[in-house]
This record gives sequence, C-alpha cells and structure tokens, in this order.
Amino acid sequence: MKSFVSRRLRNLALLALALAPITWFLLESAARLGRPDFISGYLLLVSIVFLALYNLRKKAPIAVAFSSASWLQLHTYVGLGTAVLFGLHVDWRLPDGILESLLATLYWLTFLSGVVGLIWTRTVPKQLARVSEEFVYERIPALRQQIYERAQQVVLETVRATGNNTLGEFFSERLQGYLEKPRGLGYWLRPTSEVRKRLLAELTEVTRYLSEPERQAGEQIFSLVRRRDDLDYHAALQWRLKAWLFMHIGLTYPLVMVAVVHGLVVHLFDGGAL
Ligand code: HEM
Repeated sequence: MKSFVSRRLRNLALLALALAPITWFLLESAARLGRPDFISGYLLLVSIVFLALYNLRKKAPIAVAFSSASWLQLHTYVGLGTAVLFGLHVDWRLPDGILESLLATLYWLTFLSGVVGLIWTRTVPKQLARVSEEFVYERIPALRQQIYERAQQVVLETVRATGNNTLGEFFSERLQGYLEKPRGLGYWLRPTSEVRKRLLAELTEVTRYLSEPERQAGEQIFSLVRRRDDLDYHAALQWRLKAWLFMHIGLTYPLVMVAVVHGLVVHLFDGGAL
C-alpha cells in the first residue's frame, strides 16, 4: 500500500516537473507579448490526440513496448496534465463564443469522466468481490427470470400443499413486483441494500405466523431474494463500468473534432490563411 501511494506521489511529482518548464515558457512568452496561446493550443491538441489514440494501444506495433498498466499510467498522467495546459491555454478564464464554450464543455466532461472512471475502475471490482458470487453481465436478465420463476413455483407448491395462503398473499403483495421487474433508475445510479433489508424484515415477520412447511418455503424465498439483490447489485455496478467508458469514448471523438475545427478557425482569423 505504501509503495502504491509513494509511486503515485512520485508520478505526480514527475508530472509537475514536466509541466513546470512548459508553464514557465508560456508565461514568459505571454510577458514578452509572444503567442503562447498557439503553443499551448498545439501542445493541448497533440496531448488530446495522444489520449484519444489510447484505444489503439492493442493494435499499434509500438504498443507492445509498454505493458497495458504502463499505457494506462501514461494516459492518466498525460490526461491530468492537460488540465494545466487547458487552464494556461484559456488563461484560466471561462470561454466566450459558441465554439469555444462547446470545446471547453467537451474537454471538461471528458476530463471529469476520465477521473470518475479511474476511481470506479479501482473501487468497483473490490465492491463486487464482496458479493457471494460473480455474475456475467449478459446472463443477469436470464438469471433474474429464473429466480422469479423459482420463487413463484415454491410459493404455489406450498400454498397447494398446506392450503394456507399467507405466503401466497405476501408473495403477490410484496415480492412479485420486486422479483418481476428491473430496479428503478435510482437504484442503478446508487445501488443500496435498503429494499432487500426491508423485504427480508417483512418476510421474517410473516414467517412467525407460518407452519413448518411454509417456514421452509420461506427460507427458500429468503435466499432467492438475497440472490436477486446480489444480481441487481452486480448489474448496476457492471453497468456503471460500461457506461462511464462508453461516455468517455463517446465524448472523445467530438472533443477531437471540435478541437481541430477550433484550431482551423483560429488560424483563419489570425492570418486569413492556414
Ligand atoms: C481529457 C482528455 C481525454 C481523452 C481524449 C481520453 C480518451 C480516452 C480513450 C479514447 C480511452 C480508450 C477507451 C478504450 O478504448 O478502452 C480512454 C480510456 C481511459 N481513460 Fe481517458 N481520456 C482523457 C482523459 C482522461 C483522464 C484525465 C483520466 C484519468 C485521470 C482518464 C482515464 C481513463 C481510464 C481509466 C481509461 C480506461 C482504461 C481501461 O480500462 O482500459 N482519461 N480515455
């Protein structure tokens, strides 16, 4: 853990060391009435194109020179470094003009999605490992359906065998909706075990009034509800990992395009020609 933290600190120090002369040069150039915005603009564009090419890492021959983890480190620190370049490029001011505002919005959304994604790719696997079982994302809907059908079957058989409908009523009033439908948006954004706890507490309450065979069925329902909740938890967190990457990549391409257009427009207005 210590070496992990010290490695990160060392890398951040290296990043600061690399940015220091660039920052100094750009500030100096501004003081001498030079054109630092062109230099910072090109540096930024090259860095963003480099970041955007990250998904070619597996295909490009040069990529084999570095491990996958090294590429990610490089991507992360260059990505973080662009925030300083961006700040210097816009002079730490809010942009005006439609194109510049669009560019700044796309840049900061891509940057933020990168930071959030970095945190999630570090934390989500640990959260998932705490769940009893691992589930393949694509199989989750089918497994949910199996749980629903199994619970229905257990309840029907018990009601038929005992002639008592307490469990059946509990199932149709409290459990059926939960087992039948996917979870709401709130759960997908912030999965919690609140509903699971509430339903299990209600089921515990009901089992106090049940006969022995019904209690045994109740035990099965208990484990089916737990499993369903584990499935939902996996689905929500795995979806989170997919969704952020989808967003990060989805923002990258418009960002590169708008940055190139911005560069062309700036050149056209600067000298009337490219
Ligand atoms: C601001 C400009 C940025 C651009 C244009 C950019 C672009 C990209 C692209 C194209 C990918 C490849 C996705 C793939 O095919 O797997 C990627 C992945 C990734 N980026 Fe960025 N990125 C930027 C900034 C950042 C920042 C600032 C961070 C974190 C501090 C970051 C963290 C990541 C992570 C963690 C991945 C996924 C790595 C993996 O799981 O393979 N990015 N980015």
